[in-house]
Amino acid sequence: MTKDRLTTSAGAPVPSNNTSATAGPRGPVMLEDYQLVEKLAHQNRERIPERVVHAKGWGAEGTFTVTHDITKYTCAKIFSQVGNTCDILSRWSTVAGELGAADAERDVRGFSIKFYTEEGNWDVVGNNTPIFFVRDAFKFPDFIRTQKRHPKTNLRSPEAMFDFWAAQPESVHQVTILMSDRGIPVNPMHMHGYGSHTYSMWNAQGGRHWVKFHFRCQQEIKNYSNGEAEKLIGSTRESYQEDLYNAIDEGQFPKWELNIQVMPEEQANDVDFNPFDLTKVWPHDQFPLIPVGMLEFNKNPENYFQMVENAAFSPSNKIPGIGFSPDKMLQARVFSYADAHRYRLGTHYEALPANAPKAAKLNHYHKDGSMRFFTNDFGNPDAYYEPNQYGGPVADPSVKEPPLKISGDMDRYEQVETDADYVQPRKLYTEVLDAAQRDRLHKNMAAAFGPCSQPVKERWLAVLEKVHPDYAAGVRAADEAGDTDVNAIPVSDDTPVDSND
Ligand code: NDP
Ligand code: HEM
Repeated sequence: MTKDRLTTSAGAPVPSNNTSATAGPRGPVMLEDYQLVEKLAHQNRERIPERVVHAKGWGAEGTFTVTHDITKYTCAKIFSQVGNTCDILSRWSTVAGELGAADAERDVRGFSIKFYTEEGNWDVVGNNTPIFFVRDAFKFPDFIRTQKRHPKTNLRSPEAMFDFWAAQPESVHQVTILMSDRGIPVNPMHMHGYGSHTYSMWNAQGGRHWVKFHFRCQQEIKNYSNGEAEKLIGSTRESYQEDLYNAIDEGQFPKWELNIQVMPEEQANDVDFNPFDLTKVWPHDQFPLIPVGMLEFNKNPENYFQMVENAAFSPSNKIPGIGFSPDKMLQARVFSYADAHRYRLGTHYEALPANAPKAAKLNHYHKDGSMRFFTNDFGNPDAYYEPNQYGGPVADPSVKEPPLKISGDMDRYEQVETDADYVQPRKLYTEVLDAAQRDRLHKNMAAAFGPCSQPVKERWLAVLEKVHPDYAAGVRAADEAGDTDVNAIPVSDDTPVDSND
């Protein structure tokens, strides 16, 4: 087989890729051996900053197919016809661990999907939980600090985690899910995904609905107990990457059904919970799941770094027909992600293959900066500002979102604890989880807060007491007895039910 000639990055043929140019056989090395310098310099630049959160992740490429007509809710072109398809890119992740963290740790999982639609890229940057720990962005950096390493010990600190959660009782809903069976999925292919926030859709008539996105796992829901996960981590830290890569490589393509919950714009004032509060779900019986389409992941990226590390998902990436909502956390995220990408990847990060639109034509006036390796002179080098007389691209008012009525005074509204913070976790505890699942929840929680000081434990138990006295009593008993061993989780306890249940 004839092989291509190795070249420099400037295209010149390279005489050797394993012997340095030296003065005599024993050295020293000549400074003019520029290809040696180049090789070492490149190696020094092979890492970019890891994501400040969600550093460890696993990704795949695939296809989204629209299966149901939702044109009464949205004029987004991708949903204009049943059968429409677009390419998709996923990245699933853990939140707290660094890039080298073990995959099978108890943590929330990130669930990011990029839809490459003909009207631009639409990103849903969600989690495998329908809710979140806090509901005001001011609290997010502090919350994340409690998940990362202690400044002195350089270790993760349960004391910090539970100290923070006990002072933010709205977090009990998410912490309950985290400590339940679903806190350690066996891999990304066996968990649901949620957009979590409330978003909006508008239709061709300008009517707006609030929506929640649900990605219903088409594989069995499967989870590990702490013991199983610890054993697994002892043998491999990369179990998710192995499972996902091998499944796709062997033609077993994981699938999720995209569903939406829908609320007419005006109804937001009439429901007995704040539909824009990220610590609350919309109950299924009031807002049934409506199937929309199917996601199938059928391709491992040719180069992990290029497509998964370089991927820049952002809630700010939306398309005409899909919009934001007043959710305070969502508003902050709309700012934060692109800011993170400019820092982590560079000015023109959206020109990287993972982030560049695949189906939409790109026409923007951004100019210079790092990674300026594309042209956009629109056929005329003078059309580099706007408005111009050279036929450069112009904005299209027809894609404007319908006006949104805002009411109230501008103020800093306290995110005070209310009884409503306990209603949904109580329902989860008493009605969704059965006795065996509650028992495992008690033990997992006791294992997690075992290392905490007694005052922090008591403050957290007081929060659990407000959810349900049995919850606090169960965790206290497991903690006092040191009874934190959970056997394998029976799959039948956790099988997904039909999406319209
Ligand atoms: P439903 O009985 O219709 O829904 C219960 C939901 O809980 C199902 O989606 C179920 O998933 C999911 N679930 C089961 N076990 C767990 C677990 N350990 N951790 C997280 N989710 C789990 O009732 P409601 O819609 O009225 O919701 C009741 C409670 O269920 C809520 O207060 C909330 O805590 C939780 N929940 C609700 C969701 C929603 O969007 N309404 C979504 C997820 C959880 P599956 O279908 O796979 O069994
Ligand atoms: C990643 C900020 C809340 C899901 C990130 C990143 C930042 C960030 C800066 C790193 C981005 C990058 O470098 O590419 C915030 C802020 C939040 C918030 C400021 C609250 C105000 C949430 C919530 C969810 C979420 C509520 C889920 C519903 C994710 C996911 C990733 C991520 C999935 C990884 C994206 C990927 O796979 O590349 N977040 N986040 N975040 N966040 Fe958030």
